[in-house]
Amino acid sequence: MVSFKELGLVNTREMFAKAIKGGYAIPAFNFNNMEQLQAIVKACAETKSPVILQVSKGARNYANQTLLRYMAQGAVEYAKELGWEHPQICLHLDHGDSFELCKSCVDFGFSSVMIDASSLPYEENIALTKKVVEYAHKYDVTVEAELGVLAGVEDEVSSAVSHYTKPEEVVDFATRTGCDSLAISIGTSHGAYKFTPEQCTRDPKTGRLVPPPLAFDVLDAIMEQLPGFPIVLHGSSSVPQEYVDMINQYGGKLPDAVGIPEEQLRKAAKSAVCKINIDSDSRLAFTAAVRKVFAEKPGEFDPRKYCGPARDLMEQLYKHKIINVLGSDGKAE
Ligand code: G3H
Ligand code: 13P
Ligand code: ZN
Repeated sequence: MVSFKELGLVNTREMFAKAIKGGYAIPAFNFNNMEQLQAIVKACAETKSPVILQVSKGARNYANQTLLRYMAQGAVEYAKELGWEHPQICLHLDHGDSFELCKSCVDFGFSSVMIDASSLPYEENIALTKKVVEYAHKYDVTVEAELGVLAGVEDEVSSAVSHYTKPEEVVDFATRTGCDSLAISIGTSHGAYKFTPEQCTRDPKTGRLVPPPLAFDVLDAIMEQLPGFPIVLHGSSSVPQEYVDMINQYGGKLPDAVGIPEEQLRKAAKSAVCKINIDSDSRLAFTAAVRKVFAEKPGEFDPRKYCGPARDLMEQLYKHKIINVLGSDGKAE
């Protein structure tokens, strides 16, 4: 058993309380490799932004949970080395799908876990979430739960349609489970294709897809039911057109990729939404930079020469999100 406190990590309790009060959101960035982690830590240290480092099931399969945990521990030390005196870094399990997995993360030094039982029937979601909460809270580890189903692919749980969170269920769910935060469904989804072209309109000037707005009425109704309760938005990448264009220009093929417009995330960040999950945008930045080097310098074979530019572009992306979208800069001096 390792406590996250020994590793210099923090749970989400104080982070979220401050974020709701201050009208900003904490960035929750997924990481799978060293370059992503370096870019996240540099961006957060420079902007003094609290941050949630997320490890998904896919990341665990790809990079190994043990290695990722030591990397997160290293991130705290790296942050200090960069001059960030009191790093506010949370290590979070993204989309945990069983009690055993959540328990293993708690035992292993994670400071926060998500139990995603949103695809189960309501009562089963409550029972599993409650079990995880009871265990995690013994060690002061915070728990995110989910109610409602996002469209697209949630790890291995696939759903063709989005089922918005039902505001009439949230009080019962939060009370009976004791969860610390609630991920909701209001129209976001995972990946770089968040909406089909049929769900969008087209900008007559650029010909680009304009997605439908998020269901802010559902968010408002949830906040009315649970005043001041921490709300989480998954699937919140914006799929920046510049990265999509770069990828397509240098031999990629991402037709009609579309994300959540940043002005909608800005609006959400000012509300009780205090954790915004971003993964796909970082993947796009990484791929765009690598493709550019490969296209322009076909003789290059030193990975540092293409992973380095990818890291730089991701760092720029993370800073942009922190400063211009979430407003979390300067909140962890
Ligand atoms: O929620 C999904 C995240 O983007 C993680 O995706 O399972 O492919 O790592 P992944
Ligand atoms: P994106 O695919 O929009 O980046 O969402 C990531 C996410 O929700 C991770 O849990
Ligand atoms: Zn997610």
